[in-house]
Amino acid sequence: MSKVGIGIGLLGMGVVGGGTASALSQKRDHLADLVGCPVELRGVLVRDVGKRRAIRLAEGMITTCADDILLSPDVDVVVELMGGQEPAFEYVMRAISLGKHVVTANKEVMARSGPEILDAARKAGVRVLFEAAVAGGTPIIAPVMRDLAANEVISIHGIINGTTNYILTRMEQDGADFGDTLEEAQRLGYAEADPTNDIEGIDAAYKLAILATLGFRSRIREEDVYREGITRLTARDFQYARELGYTVKLLGIATADVDGVQVRVHPAFVSADTMIAKVDGVLNAVEIQTDLAGKLLFHGAGAGSMPTSSAVIADIVEIARSLRGGGAPPPMPRISGDVRVKPMSELHTKYYVRLTAADHPGVLAQIANVFAQCSISIVSALQKWRDDDNKLAEIVFMLHPSSERAMQRAVRQLAALEVVDEVSNMVRVEEW
Ligand SMILES: NC(=O)c1ccc[n+]([C@@H]2O[C@H](COP(=O)([O-])OP(=O)(O)OC[C@H]3O[C@@H](n4cnc5c(N)ncnc54)[C@H](OP(=O)(O)O)[C@@H]3O)[C@@H](O)[C@H]2O)c1
Repeated sequence: MSKVGIGIGLLGMGVVGGGTASALSQKRDHLADLVGCPVELRGVLVRDVGKRRAIRLAEGMITTCADDILLSPDVDVVVELMGGQEPAFEYVMRAISLGKHVVTANKEVMARSGPEILDAARKAGVRVLFEAAVAGGTPIIAPVMRDLAANEVISIHGIINGTTNYILTRMEQDGADFGDTLEEAQRLGYAEADPTNDIEGIDAAYKLAILATLGFRSRIREEDVYREGITRLTARDFQYARELGYTVKLLGIATADVDGVQVRVHPAFVSADTMIAKVDGVLNAVEIQTDLAGKLLFHGAGAGSMPTSSAVIADIVEIARSLRGGGAPPPMPRISGDVRVKPMSELHTKYYVRLTAADHPGVLAQIANVFAQCSISIVSALQKWRDDDNKLAEIVFMLHPSSERAMQRAVRQLAALEVVDEVSNMVRVEEW
């Protein structure tokens, strides 16, 4: 330990770094009580020292040189809140090699390089905590790593991206289409100017890879996660979902069985009377099913300056307390399991299909024949909207569970039928 108290060095002082610096200052006495000594901000790395900041920093505290933080003997805990893979990953690894403990909110770095980072931390005898990397202010990493340590995780179902949940909630409640709702979310600051990471499910895939890695104690890479975004959903999908007793959510799903694990992010029909269906707006929720504890639901803010800094500071306090207590810090977990990640073709679930077809007798029989040839049974077929000028009708099918392989074959064959104008959407129906 350096000077009196625990020294914190922030790498980044934007939305989360600004909130963390403010909370460290506002809650100085409370944190000192919790830890048993002061927890002090001793340096801040940014790109642009001229920028206006959420809080005023003492002279000489702010720098654009990472070494000022990483090499400082006054910094015990390096808190990485920059985002992106590089240089964040390099700085985290250097901090570890220099014997510093690390707190990070960086899902990209933890999804891509988490096992290497934890391994390096274990060898160096330091801790790396990352509660804020998944579900922002909602505790989920510590519960999985510590509170559920004795459990086998059977499944994880989560709404882990607030931006897309906001867009889907507005589409459901206002009957609006995707494009308009995205523009509104951008105006309100819920979606970024380039929304790709959110709407294509990339951000959710990072978070699911982290949760699945910890839950299954095996390395699950971000590229192992099957991913579909929300851009194909329309107001009509929401209308039909409601009529059928469902809502549509972008889910991160990880399941384990004897054949391996399945990890996927995609829009899903979720029964309207489940708890997860009622998670609206920018909120996040993660439901975990385990062998001992059963089903648990974690629900709360998934982002935002103060909620996320709450998670960052919880990690800082955890490390500060163990530094204060002396002795060796608890070792970081070993992610050594080797698990088979099942391809999407092995998924077995129910499906919703919306298509437009010629509006004349015999068409339904041809479509039903394709499903039958692919061994898929129909639960219901509803003829909905009709275009009298072009003699087209929209038909919505709910299908009994089948394999994804069979379903993809059916979609290809349907699209090739002369009587089918377009297979507009296919959404998986999730029940767990
Ligand atoms: N925002 C949220 O609600 C939220 C929630 C959960 C997790 N997170 C995660 O928290 C991390 C930070 O997010 P944020 O929203 O706070 O980001 P942000 O507002 O963009 O802030 C990033 C900060 O890092 C600094 N920075 C970036 N690259 C740098 C570099 N190469 N060298 C020096 N400084 C650099 C920036 O400096 P300047 O200020 O000079 O530009 C800025 O202060 C990310 O990993 C994000 O995924 C965010």
